[in-house]
Amino acid sequence: MTEIPQTSADYYKKATSFWNYPEVPYGSALRGMVLPTDVVADIGCGIGIVSRYLAAISQRVIAIDKNENAVKVLSEDLDRMGPNNIEVVHARWPEVHTEDWDVAVAFYHHRFGSTSAEIETLLRKTRRSGIVVNQGIRPREGFYEDLGREFGLTEQPESCIGSCYVRGRLEQAGFTVTCTEIFHDFGQPVDSQAEAVAYAMKQLRLEEDQRQRLSEIVLNYVEYVGEQMVLPIKRYNCMLQFYQ
Ligand SMILES: C[S@@+](CC[C@H](N)C(=O)[O-])C[C@H]1O[C@@H](n2cnc3c(N)ncnc32)[C@H](O)[C@@H]1O
Repeated sequence: MTEIPQTSADYYKKATSFWNYPEVPYGSALRGMVLPTDVVADIGCGIGIVSRYLAAISQRVIAIDKNENAVKVLSEDLDRMGPNNIEVVHARWPEVHTEDWDVAVAFYHHRFGSTSAEIETLLRKTRRSGIVVNQGIRPREGFYEDLGREFGLTEQPESCIGSCYVRGRLEQAGFTVTCTEIFHDFGQPVDSQAEAVAYAMKQLRLEEDQRQRLSEIVLNYVEYVGEQMVLPIKRYNCMLQFYQ
C-alpha cells in the first residue's frame, strides 16, 4: 500500500501530478502569453509547481512567496533536482525588491491586486502582461462543502466580487483586461480510506474526537476518476489576463 503523505506539500504534489496542473487547465493561457526570452514573476508561488512550469517556457522565473515553509520546500527541491533558472524570493507582496519582469503570474493568491500598493507595484514592475486566477462566482462544490456541512462548519460566501474588483482596479490603472471563467476539477487523489481521513482531518481542521465519525462517512464523499479515488474539489475560477 502507498504511504500516506505527511505534509500539505506532499498532498499538493500528489494532486498536481495526478491532474497535470498547471498544464490543465492553464497551459494554453500560459504558453500563449510567455515567450522563451521572458523573465516571469510567480507571485504567491507556494511550493513552486507553477514556477517549474514557467521555468520550462521562459528564460527565468522569480518565485515569490511570504510563506517561509513553502519557500523552504521549493528551495530544497530546486537544490536537489533543479531547474536552475528559478530565483526564490521570500517576501510579502507587494514589498518585493527584485528586478522587474516581463510577465506576472498570480494563481490562487487570495485577494491578489486588491490594494493600490499592489496595483502600483504591478504597473511599475511588469513590462508587458500577466495572468491572475482566483475564485469565480459560481458555487463551490466538493468535499469541503459537503463534509463541512456534515460537521457544522460554515461555508464561505460565494462571490466573484474579488475578481471583478481586481479587474476594475487593473483597468483603472490602464491595463487592458480580459476575464475568462475556467472550470478546475482538482480533487485530492487518495489511495485508501485512511488517507482520505487524514487529508480531510487536516483540511477541515477537525478535532480528534471527530475522527471516528469522519472515518464512518468519508467514503460516501469520494469519487472515482478512472481507478483513482478522489476527494472532490471543483471550482469555477476567474482568470484575468492583463496587458500594458
Ligand atoms: C493557494 S497557494 C497557490 C500556490 C501557487 N500559486 C499554485 O497555484 O500552486 C497561495 C500562495 O500565495 C501565497 N501568498 C498569499 N499572499 C501573499 C503575499 N502577500 N505575498 C506573497 N505570497 C503570498 C501563500 O503563502 C501561498 O503559498
